[in-house]
Amino acid sequence: MAITLVMLMSQLGAQDPPKKDPPKKDPPPQPLDMIKLEASYDAELFPIFEEQCAECHDAGEAERELQLMEFTTFLKGSIDGPIIEPGKPAESKLFQVVQEGSDPHMPPDGQLSEDDVARIKKWIDGLPPALKKKLGEKKDDGESPVSSPF
Ligand code: HEC
Repeated sequence: MAITLVMLMSQLGAQDPPKKDPPKKDPPPQPLDMIKLEASYDAELFPIFEEQCAECHDAGEAERELQLMEFTTFLKGSIDGPIIEPGKPAESKLFQVVQEGSDPHMPPDGQLSEDDVARIKKWIDGLPPALKKKLGEKKDDGESPVSSPF
């Protein structure tokens, strides 16, 4: 009886080949689409920067070495490094300095509209974490990068 059952089951098994579960793989990491990011910088942030920040954060006059008017220099950040933390507006200098009552406050003699502040927040919120490794990259300007001990 037991044997019949085993045979029956193996027959059933034969009719119904074992399902091949595809090996579980992590989804491939999304490649960083820098072109798309730059386009969104151009559309969302640049107009604000051009109107409110260019006076002091452009190639000529770059307070704290922060140049906001180009995507690459914007990513590089200030003398202290990146001013954005992907996905974390509250930890991003760019977002902190435009809050009412912040210190320092940007622009020093004004206040961005609520819309502009919200736009900056949303932009930082939407940044992929992988962007982090692109931030603070020094351009090849002769300075030697901080070398890793490894
Ligand atoms: C009138 C000149 C002026 C304008 C306009 C201005 N800034 Fe600044 N910005 C400064 C100065 C000066 C500092 C350094 C302040 C300090 O450290 O106390 C600074 C510092 C900053 C910092 C901090 C950088 C760091 O790491 O220390 C950020 C971020 C910043 N500005 C963003 C902006 C943004 C965004 C705008 C436009 C909304 C803007 N600034 C407009 C003069 C300006």
